This record gives sequence, C-alpha cells and structure tokens, in this order.
Amino acid sequence: MELRPFHIPTSHFFKKSILWNDEEAESKVKDILGHLLGTKSFFFVPSCFAALELAAYSLDFTLNDEVILPSFTHVSVANAFQRAGAKIILVDCLPETMNIDPESVLKAISKKTKAIVYMHYAGNSTGFTAVQEIAKSMDIALIEDAAQSIGSSQEKKHLGTLGDFGCFSFDYQKNVECGQGGLLVCNNEKYLERLQRLYLNGTNQIEFNQGKVDYFDWQDFNGGNYRFSSHLFQILLPQLFHIDTINGIKLKNALDNLNLIGSFNFNSAHFFKINEESNHQTNWILFEDHNEEKTFIHSLKEKNIPFLKHYYPLHLSKMGKNLPFHETTGTAKKSKNIIRLPTYIR
Ligand SMILES: Cc1ncc(COP(=O)(O)O)c(C=O)c1O
Repeated sequence: MELRPFHIPTSHFFKKSILWNDEEAESKVKDILGHLLGTKSFFFVPSCFAALELAAYSLDFTLNDEVILPSFTHVSVANAFQRAGAKIILVDCLPETMNIDPESVLKAISKKTKAIVYMHYAGNSTGFTAVQEIAKSMDIALIEDAAQSIGSSQEKKHLGTLGDFGCFSFDYQKNVECGQGGLLVCNNEKYLERLQRLYLNGTNQIEFNQGKVDYFDWQDFNGGNYRFSSHLFQILLPQLFHIDTINGIKLKNALDNLNLIGSFNFNSAHFFKINEESNHQTNWILFEDHNEEKTFIHSLKEKNIPFLKHYYPLHLSKMGKNLPFHETTGTAKKSKNIIRLPTYIR
C-alpha cells in the first residue's frame, strides 16, 4: 500500500503568477495583506523565527529581564529570545486549546517580566483576551506567535495585530506558504525605529532609501539581513487571492477529522474545536489514556491515514529542563504525545 503524505504544500495547487513581475507581485501581496491585517506596518522576513528574533531584539532585553514563553511551542521561540538576552520562564497550557494558561502566566510574572509570548495554537485565539489584559494591566510587552494564524481573527480583528508584535510563518505546512518565509507585524510605534535598523543590517538604510541621508552606516550590533526573497511574492500572490477558498477547504478537512475522532467515543481525549474565526491550520488530539491513544493510532495505520506528533515540551527538553517552569494544568508535560491529522487540500 502506498503511504499517503502527511502534507502537500498549498502552493502546489496554485500556479505561480505569470502576469506580474516580482515588483508587481510584491505590491499586490502587500495590498492584500494590508487589507487582511488592517495595518501596513509589517516586514517580510525569511521565517517566523526571524520575525520572533527581530521582535525580541527590538524589545532590548537587559540583564535579568525575563520573558514568559509557553513550554508547548516551537523551539524557535526559545532560541529567538535566548539569543536576544532574555531570561526564559516557561508556562503551562490549557488542554482545551493548548494555548497558554493565564493562571500559569500569573504565577510566572515578576517585576523582571518584560514580555509574554502568546502562541495561537492551530490559529485559535481562545484564551488570548485574559493574557492580553494581564499584559496591559502590568505594562508588559505582548508578542503574538501567529505562525499558524494567517486568515484567523478574534472579533474580526486579525490575529497578530492585537499585541505589540505579531509573528507569522509561511513555511511549507502553513495555509499560505512559500516553502520558507515569514512576516513581522509591529503594532507599537515605539519599537518601529529600532526595528527598521535591525531589519536592514543594523543600519539607517531606510533613511538613505527615502533620500533623507547621503549614505547609510552601521548603527546597531544586533542587525542582520532579514530581507525576504522578492521572487517568493509570486508564489504567495495566487494563494492570497484565494485565501478564503483555502481556509474554507481547511474548515471542511477539520470537520472530516472531527467526524473521524467522534466515531471513537473517546473518554480521555482533548482535541481541537471548530472556531469560525480560526483557519484550522492544525487538527490535533491529545489523550490522557494511553490505551485510547493506542486504539486511535492503530486505526489510523489501518486506514492509511498519516499522522505526526508536534512540539516536544521545552521544559522537558535538553536545553529547557533547567529553566523555571510554572505547572498548573499538567498539560504541557503530556503534550509530547499530541497527534496531528492531515489538513492539506485534497
Ligand atoms: C507556533 C510556531 N512558532 C514558530 C514557528 C517557526 O516558524 P518558521 O519555521 O517559519 O521559522 C512555527 C513553525 O511551524 C510554529 O508552529
């Protein structure tokens, strides 16, 4: 029996645009995203990791400053903040969503907390408002890890535009993708000036491009070449034209996967829900009971349905096991068993 793939990138279903050159495609992509996100304050970057790293450096962490991160998240989040000099404090998540638990955040906050990263797992923002309020009331910067959230919103406001920064991924598994790519949205003007320098190798090249200075020079140690390949706009454009269709198909896949899960009548499983404002990028299931998990995996194999695990919790990892971790629900430690089901266009 031929094994079905776990994933087929969305771009395989949308022909690269031949009507526009790179520059025209870039301008159209920026127009569409400007409308979708309701802001023009964004930077295309090579990956979501690059977006997280730029956000982290823009926050200018100094000795003893802390950042609160989910333990259940992509390792790139930890790398980005560690590199930018933040002390990492890990928190637990909620079994209903796998998003961070506000109670755990409250336990982790101290006078040293400078930032919180909120991951909208599976493009679902449930629980975000509570963390947003905590951050606001304590004047703590909020970074939305919206890697999985293109086309997802909360009360019609696009995810990634609600905190100080929003970080998106266009890697090959995302609903809209170009192999590797990302986007950083900056929603707080106070970070913009430094961010513009960091983005262009730590120089004031932006002022040079605007004709304000005769030359540009080195002004920030932490800058880098964070630019995005202009050829990739032609790959993103046809998908962005059809983003509602793509996310509609993802919803249908999600309903099919929920039917499959529902047919088992599990007692111990937590799994994703339909949220009409989510893009249903990830369909996941987590078991409390190992026997139910075994039954499910056996059945997937019999039906030739591919599946994958997801992030290994940071607080159990080699690099993260000595970091402070605030356990509340006990969900993060179980998350190494999470199972993801396929959601690609069929
Ligand atoms: C929640 C989350 N954050 C960050 C990333 C990193 O994205 P990238 O591969 O574009 O760097 C991913 C990747 O899948 C992710 O799922």
